[in-house]
Amino acid sequence: MALLVGGLGQMAGAEVLRIGMITPPSHQWTISAHAVAERLNAQTEGRLVLSVMPSGQLGNEAQMLQQLRSGALDMAFLTVGELANRDPDFGILVAPYLVPDAETAARLLEGPTAASLLENNLAPLGLHGLGYGMAGMRIVLLSRPLADGGTVAGRKIRTVPLAQELDFWSTAGAVPTPLPLPDLFDAYANGQIDGMQLDLEGTWNNRFQDYSAVILDSEHMIFPMFAVASGRKWQSLDPADRDLIARLVAEEAAHIRAAYPQIDADYRARLTEAGAPIIRPGPEIFGDAVEKWYETWRERTPLLVQLEDEARALQAD
Ligand code: BEZ
Repeated sequence: MALLVGGLGQMAGAEVLRIGMITPPSHQWTISAHAVAERLNAQTEGRLVLSVMPSGQLGNEAQMLQQLRSGALDMAFLTVGELANRDPDFGILVAPYLVPDAETAARLLEGPTAASLLENNLAPLGLHGLGYGMAGMRIVLLSRPLADGGTVAGRKIRTVPLAQELDFWSTAGAVPTPLPLPDLFDAYANGQIDGMQLDLEGTWNNRFQDYSAVILDSEHMIFPMFAVASGRKWQSLDPADRDLIARLVAEEAAHIRAAYPQIDADYRARLTEAGAPIIRPGPEIFGDAVEKWYETWRERTPLLVQLEDEARALQAD
């Protein structure tokens, strides 16, 4: 019988790989990382152990990127934030109103432009792309009411720190305030920010509805998840192990993409049933920021135009 030395099923001589993410244990990304870990353990009979490090335990995403580059961290589920700061092309994925809903978002992430980012743009950052997941469509919470016909101008809004998002909110006349997910609760509860861009899942799980005068269910942006491995670590793995990990992560990433339309719908229903002040506004809440944003970013990142064509084709299907 194999000698067990660590957590459930960990054999003596097992190779331990670590996967980091900023999401808490209750979040779908973390749940999915555990699902991959269980399957990897089962399929290698405990020879490969994937240790899941949630809630930014290994640091913020900038720190995780450094660790991935050096090989100190093996894998991660990353948001687009720090990637777009290193290569602006990643930021095309958060173009406002690019797709109408999470189903179309998932299909766009399965398309050729998204695939080319994964294949070509991650390697220069020392990463190997394993697939796309996503979070719920982005919405806006405000601690103070929005007047009829009002816009988000003047509000101090939490964002993820990437140039495309900051530019969008500045253009809308708001004061974008970058904050990582783990710091959000205190900042909102203490009034350090008076609004945030998030999703329905994060809203419900943190009870942000209790601190909000209005939840704007705008679904105005996609929020992609990048499943990555350290390029350095990837090269050192046995090819058969690489194939196995690639398959398991790709399967789970596909599961995440397929699950989010329903996850969004479930949290929307829970919030509505709980009497949360949720409304469905149009792009006018952002003033003329959407048109201006496209003018700027089509020029700065011409790959955006190709992604827009793809998004349009999906909606014409
Ligand atoms: C956020 O920072 O808003 C976020 C990060 C990961 C998953 C979902 C949301």
